[in-house]
Amino acid sequence: MRKGILLAGGSGTRLYPITQVVCKQLLPIYDKPMVYYPLCTLMQAGITDILLICAPSDLALFKALLHNGHQWGINIEFATQAKPEGLAQALIIADPFLAGSPCAMILGDNLFYGHQLQHILQAANEMSCATVFGYHVANPQAYGVIEFSENNHVISITEKPTEPKSHFAMPGLYFFDSHASEYAKTVTPSLRGELEIVDVINQYLELDNLNVKILSRGTAWLDTGTPDAIAEATQYIAAIEKRQGLKVSCPEEIAYSMGLIDHFQLKILAEPLLKSGYGEYLLSLLDKNFPDEIY
Ligand code: TTP
Repeated sequence: MRKGILLAGGSGTRLYPITQVVCKQLLPIYDKPMVYYPLCTLMQAGITDILLICAPSDLALFKALLHNGHQWGINIEFATQAKPEGLAQALIIADPFLAGSPCAMILGDNLFYGHQLQHILQAANEMSCATVFGYHVANPQAYGVIEFSENNHVISITEKPTEPKSHFAMPGLYFFDSHASEYAKTVTPSLRGELEIVDVINQYLELDNLNVKILSRGTAWLDTGTPDAIAEATQYIAAIEKRQGLKVSCPEEIAYSMGLIDHFQLKILAEPLLKSGYGEYLLSLLDKNFPDEIY
């Protein structure tokens, strides 16, 4: 069974002064904490055993918010990263938790939403090889960029290139086999002093063991590292939720729809949330019988 890693460390310097005392992933994106979104992405992939990695100073807050995950029918454990020394370091920290299992790692400030996404995520989870995604963006130089050959084979993935070879960025969601921690241990710090995830991914590429799945333009991938990005993501989620009357990345709803919790548990979860409307939404789910297509 693939396990999940949710990376909620980092320094959040692009959000200063907001994140001088509050961690980025606890900030709101419209009606819920940012960390709910990547957590739901892992749940939608079918991953229910998750390690959240955060800075030592934020551990108590994450534990207070997420508990052990059992209330949502999943298991959440916690580990800390003393300093944000790179995404690949998380794979080393997670090694004892993974204990030889394959994993999916998601960045705590990445939001995914779109048609067929659950299906795409579950398909990646079912594959034994590693999978990363490609997403067309206007500003590829801010991301890991995927270079393709003429027949659409992946040639290289380069972190934040000054001259990007394509407009396809690699979102912060990576499915790995059971060798990820082992590969991460061979990585040396980059010029910016980080253990780069791209150096792990390139090891899969060299071994011809990397699947790159292009996410269609009908999928939204947002990262929320700046004040503008948070404002835009908030407006985006608000527009969809108001239009549909359905919530995006609501862990209680996803747990209920996936059969991880029953209607008694959903009622219990709704109770303390009734004043915000979030609880009322959860109660409204009890009366609904959605066709499968809605997911
Ligand atoms: P980044 O956007 O690279 O960095 P950051 O969140 O520290 O913000 P800033 O650039 O404003 O200083 O991080 C992407 C995500 O990965 C974010 O959710 C934080 C997380 N992260 C870690 O948990 N540990 C790390 O060592 C790094 C580099 C990032």
